Amino acid sequence: MRYFSVLCLSVLLAACGKPGSTDAPEVEDHSTIPVAPPSAIKSLLARNTCLGCHKIGKRLIGPSYLEIAQRAQSKEEILELIRHPKPERWPDYPPMNPIPISDEEGNQIADWIMSLKRN
Ligand code: HEC
Repeated sequence: MRYFSVLCLSVLLAACGKPGSTDAPEVEDHSTIPVAPPSAIKSLLARNTCLGCHKIGKRLIGPSYLEIAQRAQSKEEILELIRHPKPERWPDYPPMNPIPISDEEGNQIADWIMSLKRN
């Protein structure tokens, strides 16, 4: 399983290097959500490599932040999932590798993702 994850990561990183190369992105309704994160969050996402795989309103390598927010119950859960993803929750996607993010940056990102949640 470990070997499989490592292999997947290298495949994914290769895919991440070519923006726009994913098949049939799923466009969702983003009329009521921001199209871009606030710049402070955007730089955290960029620094932690999240941007290569996630967009706000559109499927990329991983699910959109909007979709993630809709499924999440709390910001603590989101932070936990960044550090210990549960690929079984997303059967149509390849597994994400755990990202050892700091409390400070992880909390800011998790807060922002929760802010996208609608009802
Ligand atoms: C190499 C691509 C890749 C990178 C980099 C990446 N993700 Fe993911 N992410 C995915 C995929 C694919 C999934 C869905 C499968 C899974 O959960 O393992 C996912 C799932 C998630 C989930 C879990 C959602 C849930 O409900 O189970 C969260 C939260 C998340 N990503 C946030 C982030 C954040 C924040 C970063 C940056 C710190 C990041 N991801 C970096 C690909 C990636």
